[in-house]
Amino acid sequence: MGFVILPALVPDISSVYDVYFAAFKDNPVTRALFPSATETDLLDAKSEFRTGHTAHVSEYWKTSSTQYTLKCVDTGTGQIVGMALWDVYITPSDWKKGEISWLQGDERERAEALVNPLWDARERMWSNEKYLYCHVMAVHPSFQRRGVGELLFKFGINVSQEARLPIYIESSKEAVRLYEKMGCSRLKARPLRKREDLQSVKVNSANEDGEVALFVWIPEGEENKLPKAVELA
Ligand SMILES: *[C@@H]1O[C@H](CO)[C@@H](O)[C@H](O)[C@H]1NC(C)=O
Repeated sequence: MGFVILPALVPDISSVYDVYFAAFKDNPVTRALFPSATETDLLDAKSEFRTGHTAHVSEYWKTSSTQYTLKCVDTGTGQIVGMALWDVYITPSDWKKGEISWLQGDERERAEALVNPLWDARERMWSNEKYLYCHVMAVHPSFQRRGVGELLFKFGINVSQEARLPIYIESSKEAVRLYEKMGCSRLKARPLRKREDLQSVKVNSANEDGEVALFVWIPEGEENKLPKAVELA
């Protein structure tokens, strides 16, 4: 019995996002991005929201040539218990700050207020750089503290070492210890989400203070090759 990391396949999309929504249902950014979905909508793979979401992800997979979705499978049961999205920029990233095009009006303003500080930091530090972006890591609440997050992150470390590229991480408060344990270095930049923007999303965000911890993981021998705008704390 143990866990194994594998690339997610098209039929896995809804199980992979079962894990994501179970882990992030109380996260203010997730809720701001999907303001009209109730908690039940998020958790029920058969809800109208989730079937639409699954269809959207499956379309997105046809277009992205940089984003990899991983699943962590319990080898005893075959259950998907963790997931991660990794963006791998082997050639310079053409990522640009976007718009939350599926929302309008106040909802869009609220969501963009939460996401913008992170988008700005990423754009400032990593435009046109070659790097790995640890976009999302999620472990199902019933499987937390069993090394699943570490395994998902080790996949990125392996790619990072082989490709000699740094990893950029925006950490939730809960994940700071994991990234420290994995040997990531803190960045000086600490994007700030305003408390009123966090509170404008009606979920329990007691766990969130406004500052977001940023990290890099640097492959051996590449310490002096970070982009100039990336300053270690
Ligand atoms: C990372 O690489 C090590 C050494 O090659 C290997 O043992 C391990 O299974 C890899 N981990 C993942 C998650 O790919």
